Amino acid sequence: MDLLEKLDQLRARGLEKINAAADTQKLNDVRVELVGKKGALTEILHAMREVAPERRRQVGQLVNEVRDLFNEQLAQTRHDLAQALIAQKLEAEKIDVTLPGKRLSLGAKHPVYLILDDLEALFIGLGYQVVQGPEIETDHYCFEMMNLPKDHPARDMQETFYIDNENLLRSQTSGDQARVLEKHDFSQGPLKMVGPGKVYRRDDDDATHSHQFMQMEGLVVDRNVSMSDLKGTLEMIAKHLFGADRKTRLRPSYFPFTEPSVEMDVSCFNCDGKGCSICKETGWIEVLGAGMVHPNVLENAGIDASIYGGFAFGLGLDRFAILKYGVDDIRDFYTNDVRFLAQFRQEEK
Ligand code: DAH
Repeated sequence: MDLLEKLDQLRARGLEKINAAADTQKLNDVRVELVGKKGALTEILHAMREVAPERRRQVGQLVNEVRDLFNEQLAQTRHDLAQALIAQKLEAEKIDVTLPGKRLSLGAKHPVYLILDDLEALFIGLGYQVVQGPEIETDHYCFEMMNLPKDHPARDMQETFYIDNENLLRSQTSGDQARVLEKHDFSQGPLKMVGPGKVYRRDDDDATHSHQFMQMEGLVVDRNVSMSDLKGTLEMIAKHLFGADRKTRLRPSYFPFTEPSVEMDVSCFNCDGKGCSICKETGWIEVLGAGMVHPNVLENAGIDASIYGGFAFGLGLDRFAILKYGVDDIRDFYTNDVRFLAQFRQEEK
């Protein structure tokens, strides 16, 4: 067959193939077949040797024309395929922005942590540092440094889980006092700290007893700290938590690490002091223990108790949460029933 005729046929067939390529992979195959190094056009060029010299020019020109046409058409189809792919993707990933979104349900802060965070912020505002002692504490810090030597009868006040002779699950956060006292440099200013954290006791769990709960220890040591400083601080805590109208009273008490020791009551917020089941008809609710730091506690930490003195307090955060939120079973705090916890979800801001 005449080469010109062959070229005409190739042109028609080639364009058809290019147009029929359904994706870029197939289009590339067609490209190799038509204009590739071993493609149909190259084959025709090789055949040029057999063309009479006076016709070579004409055939050569046509080969170039066909190659240009193919390349043009290949580029066009490649472009069209890419566009179609984008259109297809856009269609598949179409988002209807008018549809209502999926509502993420927010978790709720644990009620005890609501109290903890609130108090922490209060004390930080007053210049207290926040410390965290270890939950596995030593007998040394938990008791001995706190004026509770090994045979001290007041150790019975706290049913402690011992791990071995020296290590225990702390039954109070008071050991944090000793740890901070040992390190504090009074040339840098007074010591003011709170130490929140979990404590553990050998108690049979029921609605009002728990083997674990949350305390917050407080300690202020400086020169000339008086009982009225303690009283003012405790009143501030009570009013902050339970409302400015609450009356408070201090009762004498006993703790080995304070002398004198006190317990504070607030007037019952349910009956306002008249007497009800919550305050057991007394009109008062006990909320915390406190006192003036015992000189032995200071001396144990190497602090001269004739120069420095202070006050300390221990807050039961679960108890605060029970009182503040009217929780009637302390076990709800650690059994993690989401229906209980969800009640403390705060309004979205
Ligand atoms: N550690 C005491 C307890 O667990 C609470 C306490 C009372 C802490 C008086 C104090 C304090 O710092 O001064 O029962």
